Amino acid sequence: MWCALPRFIRPITAVSPLPNSSLATLCRRGVSAAVYPAISSPEKLEYSTQIVTREYADLNISNNDGQEVGHVRVRQHVNPLSFSKMVPVELPDWNAVYKDATLPLMVDIGSGSGRFLLWLAKRNCGLKNYLGLEIRPKLAKRAEHWVHELELNNIHFKHANATVSFKQFISTYPGPLVLVSILCPDPHFKKKHHKRRVVQKPLVDSIVDCLIPGGQIFIQSDIQEVAVDMRKYFDAEFDKLVHINHVDRNILCDNDGWLLSNPMGIRTEREIHAELEGASIYRRMYQKQW
Ligand SMILES: C[S@@+](CC[C@H](N)C(=O)[O-])C[C@H]1O[C@@H](n2cnc3c(N)ncnc32)[C@H](O)[C@@H]1O
Repeated sequence: MWCALPRFIRPITAVSPLPNSSLATLCRRGVSAAVYPAISSPEKLEYSTQIVTREYADLNISNNDGQEVGHVRVRQHVNPLSFSKMVPVELPDWNAVYKDATLPLMVDIGSGSGRFLLWLAKRNCGLKNYLGLEIRPKLAKRAEHWVHELELNNIHFKHANATVSFKQFISTYPGPLVLVSILCPDPHFKKKHHKRRVVQKPLVDSIVDCLIPGGQIFIQSDIQEVAVDMRKYFDAEFDKLVHINHVDRNILCDNDGWLLSNPMGIRTEREIHAELEGASIYRRMYQKQW
């Protein structure tokens, strides 16, 4: 996997920076997706980690795992279709995890380290609840450790395969679902692994069904092919979803319909690392029609 790499994670292999076109070629030739995404040098990783720390400085969270979590080693993509990952997890007791479980909910699918969602939760205490769904138990556990460290009562991280659990979770949540984000999902480059990508028709249907009218979906990737693949599913819902620039004329897109800027006010860790490597970020934001 190639998501945010905290300070204590060494890159698996040091590789030279590659333009996206070369990456696609390498992947077509069968180079492991777990290898290419490593930050291009230990110095750059260190620098990149410092930028992440600076971006999230307001959060003031400890930069270690917390003893009860242990080292979080992030090495390769998880196969979400493996037998063990297809087992539904226990539903949260919403009244136990949130102070007010009737508040509007934002869900981040594939929340990684969780810092992005923690930052939003801290800013919107008492206004919104936040749920991070993360297939890697250790990442979810560490993020939940930070929730307690920050004493936040409007955010929860759950170890879950969103493909299996999203609908179940959201249909039991007492409040309205107002925003779903899928940010820099694992690319699963090989064609035979595309079915492992998190954005598939059943999940898109569940998201569109569960959102309240006016609710939004924010997707982004630093890999154009992955962004185009995700976009294809959401664009196809044109009878239910409208792209945000048609709702708010102040939000601008390029000629291909990608948002010109990040509407969230904070970058995810993967986004920070990718931009540092010179990548573009491809973003779309949809709103469910009234
Ligand atoms: C590349 S990382 C991006 C993390 C974060 N969104 C960011 O932009 O920094 C993708 C994350 O999605 C998680 N993930 C992959 N498939 C998933 C699934 N089916 N359900 C939940 N999480 C998943 C991975 O474990 C990983 O943490």
